[in-house]
Amino acid sequence: MNQSEKRLLFTAEDIAHQVQRLAGQISEDYQGKEIILVGVLKGAFIFLADLARQLAIPTQLDFVRLASYGSGTESSGKVEITTDVQLDLHGRDVLIVEDIVDSGLTTAFLREHLLAKKPRSLKICTLLDKRERRSVSIPLDYVGWHLDKGFIVGYGLDCNEAHRQLPDIYELILQP
Ligand code: IMP
Ligand code: MG
Repeated sequence: MNQSEKRLLFTAEDIAHQVQRLAGQISEDYQGKEIILVGVLKGAFIFLADLARQLAIPTQLDFVRLASYGSGTESSGKVEITTDVQLDLHGRDVLIVEDIVDSGLTTAFLREHLLAKKPRSLKICTLLDKRERRSVSIPLDYVGWHLDKGFIVGYGLDCNEAHRQLPDIYELILQP
């Protein structure tokens, strides 16, 4: 993919500032508590790694793997847990860490799935909140940036598995 097919949205420096801001807010809100971050693979792995290292509170990490986008750019609406958390979430303060919330179907499904494990609290942190295609209302407690639309890649986000490794965030200009 050459440069002309994607538009730079947020630089690594912008992202670092945003992550620092979010981590500051989370550290303040959870003062005196220990949280479990549940990262949603694969998209959130870089965000979670950066966020976790900026937190000033005791933190444990776990991951879930979900299948929602088979491929391409639109949600199928069908969500499946392919790898569940391993830590016991019962009675714990849990924060879901997402790369992007689009239709909201994936996060809504995951939220219900994790609520069934009876955490003491469950909140959601997403780097990107893309509202155009939101089809279920879902409480987003910590948001990096709100976007109207666009297909976003880089910093963990992919298009058919490409571009996850990019340090910056881009909007993909989809070719007709
Ligand atoms: P949702 O269920 O429609 O909210 O979408 C959930 C998942 O689709 C996200 O966790 C991403 O993995 C993927 N996704 C949605 N929008 C984008 C995008 O703009 N770029 C890359 N992945 C996306
Ligand atoms: Mg994802």
